[in-house]
Amino acid sequence: MCGIVGGIAERNLVPILLEGLKRLEYRGYDSSGVAVLDSENTIQRVRALGKIKSLEAKIAEAEHPLSGQIGIAHTRWATHGVPAENNAHPHICNNQVAVVHNGIIENYQSLKKHQLTEGYRFTSDTDTEVVAHCVHEQLKSSQTLLEAVQKAITHFEGAYALGVVSVEYPNTLIAARKGSPLVIGVGIGEHFIASDVSALLPVTQSFIFLEEGDVAEITRESVNVYDVNGHQVAREIKQSSLTMHSVDLGEHRHYMHKEIFEQPQAVIDTLEGRITQNHMLVSAFGHDAEAIFQTVRQVQIIACGTSYHAGLVAKYWFEDIIGLPCQVEVASEYRYRNPVLLDHTLFVTISQSGETADTLAALQQIKALKGDKTIATLSICNVPESSLTRESDLTFLTHAGPEIGVASTKAFTTQLVALSLLVTALGKALHLMSETQERKIIHGLQKLPGLLQKALTHENDIKAIAQGFADKESALFLGRGTMYPIAMEGALKLKEISYIHAEAYPAGELKHGPLALIDEHIPVIAIAPHDDLLEKLKSNLQEVKARGGQMIVFEDEQADVDSQGNMKVVKATTNVGRITAPITFNVPLQLLSYHVALIKGTDVDQPRNLAKSVTVE
Ligand code: F6R
Repeated sequence: MCGIVGGIAERNLVPILLEGLKRLEYRGYDSSGVAVLDSENTIQRVRALGKIKSLEAKIAEAEHPLSGQIGIAHTRWATHGVPAENNAHPHICNNQVAVVHNGIIENYQSLKKHQLTEGYRFTSDTDTEVVAHCVHEQLKSSQTLLEAVQKAITHFEGAYALGVVSVEYPNTLIAARKGSPLVIGVGIGEHFIASDVSALLPVTQSFIFLEEGDVAEITRESVNVYDVNGHQVAREIKQSSLTMHSVDLGEHRHYMHKEIFEQPQAVIDTLEGRITQNHMLVSAFGHDAEAIFQTVRQVQIIACGTSYHAGLVAKYWFEDIIGLPCQVEVASEYRYRNPVLLDHTLFVTISQSGETADTLAALQQIKALKGDKTIATLSICNVPESSLTRESDLTFLTHAGPEIGVASTKAFTTQLVALSLLVTALGKALHLMSETQERKIIHGLQKLPGLLQKALTHENDIKAIAQGFADKESALFLGRGTMYPIAMEGALKLKEISYIHAEAYPAGELKHGPLALIDEHIPVIAIAPHDDLLEKLKSNLQEVKARGGQMIVFEDEQADVDSQGNMKVVKATTNVGRITAPITFNVPLQLLSYHVALIKGTDVDQPRNLAKSVTVE
């Protein structure tokens, strides 16, 4: 989703802004732009439709080199107004004020109506242009740019992260956030803003994370932050452990490929410090967790997309392994109905980014509705200091490292690791799990990196299978038990990066409808672990085979699925346990989507219409 970069320095900022935009490309965008105040104190702006290289080309072709020591830049992901150059940010008012914006100003139409009567002219179809005009209008009665922005934001309903510059105050950059993330990069004699730290890693590793409602007045020498009530507040400067190379591609052609292959290490990093060598869980959810967990009688998981699928897998674990009731719901549904909150519920939100608008809103709704009920919130998240982690009672950080590919891979794997530790922690706190069971689960998790490594060795087999896919229009994924959500995840991966329509079904549901779809044109992908449901699954596969369906089965070596005729079988793994099986079987499905997308030539890391961090509803 939209990305912001900005800065104020004593050097030309254009290369830094462009590098920052490239580092935000992964968030998804359709156009980009940059604006600086030049040496004559004039706003110079360049915008382009498409990739950042189009913007760079335009800048390179310009008659006068673009240069400035204060500036803002943006990647836009269209919400209001089609992807087009006139809708790209920065937006400028009367050559006086330039703004970049992430989020949605929900009341922009009423603001626009008023601004039209005030004589303001609009050159875009965006909601953002009202921000530029509003700041311009407020400047007339303000002593500083800070004051103008503080007054302007009182008129906005919705979500925003803003970067604002004005020719009247050429030594001040204003940043503001409500509902959309924004960080300040702290340098020596220079400061920067960005949607996330990765954009600024080439220039700093010191960051201030703005909080909800904060407005910051930024000069070369200082950063002053004001809270939602306008009071100056001290916000800690934190050091990021990321380096500029943590987000490099290395030997891989795509981030998705790199991230699939990073999964064994991501599991090791997520387990580190949370389990002991003799297979026991140590306090993984913080000091307060044990007391909170003892009050829990049921779990409600809320998430979106891939993170939702992780929740669905965990539901099986909670109910099957420790007998604790667990519900799972997508955040965009949960937040807009009137949910009944049960006493003694642990609400678990799962999110790679920690900034997904629907998940965050659902969490806020729970906090608003809980009253005097014994209810606690836990977030499982990959991004420290994200909004979700700051608003939850407990946080478990998955240590997957930065995930750049839009399609979530290693984050999902580590979310499942986190959820398995949560099942163990709740099982222990509620005396629903024996020490033997605990050791078995933890021992299984310790073997997981090796199992994932082994699953990755099947890449060449999967590449060959992918060849038969590229001309297909539809695919069906089948699984039973925890493999059903894994089938859903496989279908989601295929559709998002290869644009092939894909659906997942619990294999037992086939004859209740989807069997009608089966013919030789639709590949059917099934996951066959060696478990109690194997024989039932084999019968389902025979139903497909008998109707001429093209089957691809990822099986446990011991499952022994009959591979004759129109059935291709990949022995993806062996000796996986109840917890490690879904995590391991997901890997071949990730590789399948990746290689199908490669053959189709789609944009693997930035699929069309999608954004990495969905900060609008
Ligand atoms: C799919 C994918 C999305 C995200 C979803 C939630 O590959 O990445 O479905 O899982 O947008 O994002 P987070 O986990 O950041 O809340």
